[in-house]
Amino acid sequence: MTNTTPSSQERLPFPWLGYLFFFAVLFGTFILGMMIVSVNERRTESVKRNMLFDIKPEEMDAAAWGRSFPRQYESWKRTQDTSFRSKHGGSAYRDYLKAAPEYVVLFAGYGFSKEYNQGRGHWYSLTDVLESERVGEATAATCWHCKSPDVPRLINEMGVENFSKKKLFELKYQITHPISCYDCHDTETLALRSLRPAVLEGFQGLGKNMNDLPLQERRSAVCGQCHSTYHFADQTGLVTFPWARVCWLKISRSITKRRRFQIGHTRLAKFA
Ligand code: HEC
Ligand code: HEC
Repeated sequence: MTNTTPSSQERLPFPWLGYLFFFAVLFGTFILGMMIVSVNERRTESVKRNMLFDIKPEEMDAAAWGRSFPRQYESWKRTQDTSFRSKHGGSAYRDYLKAAPEYVVLFAGYGFSKEYNQGRGHWYSLTDVLESERVGEATAATCWHCKSPDVPRLINEMGVENFSKKKLFELKYQITHPISCYDCHDTETLALRSLRPAVLEGFQGLGKNMNDLPLQERRSAVCGQCHSTYHFADQTGLVTFPWARVCWLKISRSITKRRRFQIGHTRLAKFA
């Protein structure tokens, strides 16, 4: 007579093997699914866009691009909206210095202690920079750098050194397009790219070519052309990105050192 029940006789020698097999198949199917999605995505990305109308090689007017890409043009125009307000920002007018007067001291030495309003959409990039309390007759033309697709054109024409020697108001009539399609897209292929020398050199400093980055990185890099930490070099006034060439630990150290010296010590004294 034996104690073994029929069920224990049927059991596998290693019961966990069944589970392992089950999860391995599950995992394998998941990975395969992800690969198929990824391949399909890359394939769609590599398809050349069909332009309904030719776009001139240096077309900076978003409306002209809009004839071929009406949906993107409409969404670009929506940066005009100034009605959204949220706890942390939005597009509606907000005077941060009024809301928190301590900012005047915290930003002492920076232009932001003079005026710090909620930023607006790209539609307003030309008007807002001219109307800001932070700029004056002495302000360098370099401030245009992140405001318009006319900037790479002018830099190309007059050279980056000459561009940087000019004053903001001097170039007012030559810079006529707010941030537009041309800032991020190639006119022929629609590929994401930058034409700003400072940005391209910044990436070169990191040993990378901005316009050859994998697409996923380029998607954020195009915004980083302008939404990025920078300063104007002391002598030349050129736009300089502290993230180029050095690791981020050194960046934060060099910025804090510099700022503490330049701003904290010299300018705050005037408030005291
Ligand atoms: C600030 C940068 C920027 C500006 C300005 C900009 N775009 Fe884009 N655009 C992007 C990014 C990023 C994508 C996403 C690309 C991707 O997913 O591959 C995109 C995607 C597109 C696509 C879809 C491309 C595709 O492969 O699916 C079209 C079409 C397009 N933009 C047209 C325009 C037009 C027209 C304008 C001007 C009215 C414009 N863009 C302005 C950054 C910009
Ligand atoms: C050519 C320079 C440039 C590029 C490229 C650029 N921006 Fe901007 N962006 C600006 C400037 C300048 C403003 C402020 C405009 C104003 O206040 O008049 C702004 C404002 C904004 C605002 C609204 C203001 C705020 O503080 O919330 C958002 C959101 C924004 N940008 C997102 C993006 C995104 C996302 C991309 C990339 C797809 C991008 N930007 C690419 C220059 C740029």
